[in-house]
Amino acid sequence: MSDLEFEIERRRTFAIISHPDAGKTTLTEKLLLFGGAIQLAGSVKGRKAARHATSDWMEMEKQRGISVTTSVMQFEHRDRIFNLLDTPGHEDFSEDTYRTLTAVDSALMVIDSAKGVEERTIKLMEVCRLRDTPILTFINKLDREGREPVELLDEVERILNIQCAPITWPIGMGKRFKGVYHLYEDAIHWFSASHGDRIVKGEVIEGLNSPKLDERLGDMADELRMEIELVRGASHEFDLEAYRAGRQTPVFFGSAINNFGILELLDAFAEYAPPPHSRQARERAVMPEEDKFSGFVFKIQANMDPAHRDRIAFLRVCSGRYTKGMRLFHVRSGKAMQVANAITFQADSRENVEEAYPGDIIGLHNHGTIQVGDTFTQGENLKFEGIPYFAPELFRRVVLKDPLRSKALQRGLQQLSEEGATQLFKPLRNNDLILGAVGVLQFDVTAFRLKSEYNVDCVYDAVPVTTARWVSCSDPKKLEEFKRKVHDNLAEDGSGYLVYLATSRVNLSLTEERWPDIRFSATREL
Ligand code: G4P
Repeated sequence: MSDLEFEIERRRTFAIISHPDAGKTTLTEKLLLFGGAIQLAGSVKGRKAARHATSDWMEMEKQRGISVTTSVMQFEHRDRIFNLLDTPGHEDFSEDTYRTLTAVDSALMVIDSAKGVEERTIKLMEVCRLRDTPILTFINKLDREGREPVELLDEVERILNIQCAPITWPIGMGKRFKGVYHLYEDAIHWFSASHGDRIVKGEVIEGLNSPKLDERLGDMADELRMEIELVRGASHEFDLEAYRAGRQTPVFFGSAINNFGILELLDAFAEYAPPPHSRQARERAVMPEEDKFSGFVFKIQANMDPAHRDRIAFLRVCSGRYTKGMRLFHVRSGKAMQVANAITFQADSRENVEEAYPGDIIGLHNHGTIQVGDTFTQGENLKFEGIPYFAPELFRRVVLKDPLRSKALQRGLQQLSEEGATQLFKPLRNNDLILGAVGVLQFDVTAFRLKSEYNVDCVYDAVPVTTARWVSCSDPKKLEEFKRKVHDNLAEDGSGYLVYLATSRVNLSLTEERWPDIRFSATREL
């Protein structure tokens, strides 16, 4: 095995998907703690605290400043190197959250045991589906009264349309929570609450038939034995291939805040989650072990601090090796770039070993030359696919305060939409400028940046649009007819593609029914 192959094989690049409050921040901290990157654990909390005061611009700058460093967290466990990509949640939920999922090789889904499958999880899961991303599931907060585990698994199977294969099974819950039984190791991991930052290996009872179990659980021991028999009979057996194909999710139970169930989760993650694999470019599939470097940009983060008016482009390495100071070919512009000051996200003392391998993320400073979706290589003309735009769900009309700044406004909106934070729509029937976003904070960010970077003052008006669909049709005649008939609902996006702006969900489904030959798409590839 070559050095490069060795480094690829040990990489696990993933993101956590969850609904706000399910425990993503807590789990992130604990993973970092178990992975030995303790110094980072505090910064995750700090960031969470900052998140509560986002209406304050200073806070927002601070938060965005910090989040550059917590956007990618690297840690080690059992000789594996994990890259955890943060998916912004709460108010800073945006297209970045979705696009980050296109840069990972697998995902960890966190579910609150009292709440089950929630709305944000459903959306994030839809995005994972686009690439059949393998999903591992952690059902959290077993130290609280929650719903029956069987019911939760049913819900995941039904709503998310994925098979569940329980790996551990909870014994009781809330005040009666005793621990979890590991179905494949035939061992009971005994629960003990340990809130702090200390990792203690908990007590393990070997074997479901161990007399120790009867001593501990009394009558509950036999009940547990019966329950486990039922669970084994009624649930799917873990199938590595089905997991890696995105058809099945292994399920773990625990309590993140109590450091409980994390080690089992992390061990399984190290063992089963896929290392970086081939990536499809328009021209050909690119293998990670190829000598030549390649990668694509999945997110751009603007620095809100006026003293550092630059942008960081987050690039996922797909093949070869990045070394400090290397020359990279920026495919879209056809220009070479010397990359001296890329940011790497290495844990512990290896900070200045400035190299990166497939699966790793590097941050490239730039002043607007790099766009989301851009490919970098060592000279080859490649374009990686699969970084989509997502149909926004929030829309505002941009109203300019000073009509003389109209040109600057157009330019600003165009450039900001190229960066990928918000999307711009121009209705065919008038000269309105409509902004679309998936998270509400993006409107504030855009107004702030228009003012500070383009010297344009604007406010927003409500518009009667609830969702958008990119439209296409193989029959040009049909498309023309469609354009004539629904002209008032059509717009062009920032790149000139045709979009249907629906006034309501009902309006959308009626239109879809009425026009069976037209393709309505909720995503558009960059
Ligand atoms: P998020 O990033 O997904 O939004 O969730 P976060 O980790 O912030 O957790 C949301 C709340 O749930 C937090 O409480 C957190 O302490 C709690 N929590 C996380 N894991 C567990 C668990 O295993 N058991 C229990 N009982 N609670 C858990 P909070 O009161 O909102 O915040 P904080 O004041 O504790 O920070």
